[in-house]
Amino acid sequence: MISVQLTQQHFWQNSVEGYIIPLKSNLEPLSADAALTHIEEKHYPHLKEVLKKHQFEGDKGQSFTLSAKQGDALVQYIFVGVGSMQGAWHQELETLRRAVATGIHIVKKNYLKDAVVALPAGSLFDMSDDELAKQITILAHMASYEFSSFKSDKKKKPSWAGTLSIASKVATSGAIDQGNIIGSAINQARHWADLPANHMTPTVLAGEAQKVASKHGFKITILGRKEALELNMGGFCAVDAGSDQEGKFVVIEYKTTTPNAPTIALCGKGVMFDTGGINLKPTSGISGMKFDMSGAAAVITVMDVIGQLKPTINVIGLTPLVENMPSGKASRPDDVITCMNGKTVEIQNTDAEGRLILSDTLCYAEKFFKPAVMLDIATLTGAVQHALGHFYTGVMTKDDALAQALLAMGRKTGDRTWQLPMDDDFKGAIRSEVADIHNNGSSAYYAGTIVGATFLSNFVESARWAHLDIAGTAHDVPAINYVGKGSTGAGIRLLVEFVMNFPG
Ligand code: BES
Ligand code: ZN
Ligand code: MN
Repeated sequence: MISVQLTQQHFWQNSVEGYIIPLKSNLEPLSADAALTHIEEKHYPHLKEVLKKHQFEGDKGQSFTLSAKQGDALVQYIFVGVGSMQGAWHQELETLRRAVATGIHIVKKNYLKDAVVALPAGSLFDMSDDELAKQITILAHMASYEFSSFKSDKKKKPSWAGTLSIASKVATSGAIDQGNIIGSAINQARHWADLPANHMTPTVLAGEAQKVASKHGFKITILGRKEALELNMGGFCAVDAGSDQEGKFVVIEYKTTTPNAPTIALCGKGVMFDTGGINLKPTSGISGMKFDMSGAAAVITVMDVIGQLKPTINVIGLTPLVENMPSGKASRPDDVITCMNGKTVEIQNTDAEGRLILSDTLCYAEKFFKPAVMLDIATLTGAVQHALGHFYTGVMTKDDALAQALLAMGRKTGDRTWQLPMDDDFKGAIRSEVADIHNNGSSAYYAGTIVGATFLSNFVESARWAHLDIAGTAHDVPAINYVGKGSTGAGIRLLVEFVMNFPG
């Protein structure tokens, strides 16, 4: 656990155990406040020589730690390289995130109780100083996350807890407070997603949603199997049917005090475990399916952030929570179901379950809340990993302004997005012989990610809508040091940015 705070003292005036010092290729500091001259004068007259001797040249990914005595205190100077900083602002912002994350990892590994980092000028990254302070605060939380619930040797080795001070004369503590709120929410969602399905059932996650709602005085509705059936949520019920764990359909409502404000609906796929159902996944594809509720975890924690940051629009969070299991009660391939809007769906593959539960979720959102905009976030298709890999969430929408907003917000927040097309040509892929549509997608069309989005488009009537496929970004992302193994909290930074800066 980390807590981040503002310090208005100069970088070197802070008495802390660790100094995180980002340096460029020529050993120039990224922030003038953290120039090396101070250490050179006081502790290491030949500092640059020492760094060069140890091959530290400020390259991206490099780090080097020097210990020193300051009076009685033992301190660590943690140098982290950011390279030449000549790329586009959003790429270099990401470089900075990873360099600071490297520093925090060293702080954490050495159980330092506190550290300081100087805030570079926001203008270097095309943003305000406050915005940069917020980004670094969020990063600090993400970098210090660990999932150790089931490690029984915690007595011997307690989890690290410490404080990071961000030194700046211009940033405000309000910006850092916001970062703390968003960063903690991300780690909360990661914790829920990292919990395996025997600990994280629909009932458990609905209980967490209830806690969020109670904390902020939000109205919350939790439908069970019976209520979902009464509302003709055929998609939800078809997936829920196979499990001994009863599914829960959760609706959380945030109402702004701003009059005549528009409503945004956030819909998050919550499959607590996706076995594939009767179309059982092979062993190689089934592990990791505890993460199939990452969209729902994101939406619930975003509602928690909203309760604290209070945007000037209404936001409804909707999460269908189910477990996709094979059993005597499970839906079969060839079954035909009727969704909430009356459309019939031929289930060709019980493993394409996410779109079945989201169909009713989108219908429900429009029917009861008439949102101006709906965003859904889902680990929907393995295909998106082939299309975009692990670093970009797939965005699909026919609304260009919405797409542009989500792409720009992805660059700023580091929660990167990339658009895939959504032409009507793809509709042929889900044409059914026996029902209105089928859920599998014809293999002749390929593009499984776009076909999934095309399926969902059948359940959107008049709201502006975008679909976010996080199957590649939600967990086990390689090479990004501040997410590590397990859940990443994909989409949370993006959704918070969206609701706080709703483009209208
Ligand atoms: N939850 C999976 C998608 C997924 C796959 C997420 C790999 C993360 C990693 C989803 O429910 C699924 O099974 N999709 C099928 C769709 C197909 C049957 C049309 C897929 O991607 O194979
Ligand atoms: Zn799934
Ligand atoms: Mn599936």
